[in-house]
Amino acid sequence: MKNPWDNRERLERLLTPRRERWFPRAPILLALGLGEGMAVADVGAGAGYLVEELALAVGLAGRVWAVDPSPQARALLTERFQDQAHRQVAVCDGSAAATGLADRSADGMVWMAIYHELLHVAPDGGELRRSFAEARRVLKPGGRLVIGDWRPVPTEVGPPIGERVDPAAAADHVVAAGFTVVSSTNLSEAVWLLTVTAPEEEPQ
Ligand SMILES: C[S@@+](CC[C@H](N)C(=O)[O-])C[C@H]1O[C@@H](n2cnc3c(N)ncnc32)[C@H](O)[C@@H]1O
Repeated sequence: MKNPWDNRERLERLLTPRRERWFPRAPILLALGLGEGMAVADVGAGAGYLVEELALAVGLAGRVWAVDPSPQARALLTERFQDQAHRQVAVCDGSAAATGLADRSADGMVWMAIYHELLHVAPDGGELRRSFAEARRVLKPGGRLVIGDWRPVPTEVGPPIGERVDPAAAADHVVAAGFTVVSSTNLSEAVWLLTVTAPEEEPQ
């Protein structure tokens, strides 16, 4: 399926400071609970709206994997974060269901504004289930997954209402996938934020 985000102009618009109204970065960072030396995966990183803050949070001893299936997104990410000052950032070709990252390698993972896309890739929700399984594989036991997406309410920007997900439905998906909900809050008037943790130990 063609990725509508494989478009440089569209991706660059995600970096507008006006996005802070809908997706304020400080509470997202707080929810991830990152510290110096930790490893975090920004899955569906787009143009890297969160990457600078993630890199600062983990420092040069940490790791930020900016994962995206779009070649245009990866080109933009590479341009923005290829310098020595961001050597903890790695740009990765992958999707939420196939990140290419190692088992139990990440302390945290973030899915920002990609949930509605994952839900609608396959009509049976299969891509979302595969994405949760991948998150469980990649996260360390007890690692955090922070998910934010649009509520089904009218806004002048954002995806069509019919594609949006209610946070209660997302919380049900998360629990069915074996994660534990730590908190469910409003990131802004039209965006929800779910913070969940992977199981402490996977059953053998
Ligand atoms: C709305 S943008 C959000 C980008 C970024 N997370 C942000 O908040 O600025 C959606 C991103 O998800 C990526 N994407 C599309 N399908 C995906 C998938 N199956 N797994 C991971 N990312 C995907 C797109 O290439 C695009 O960069």
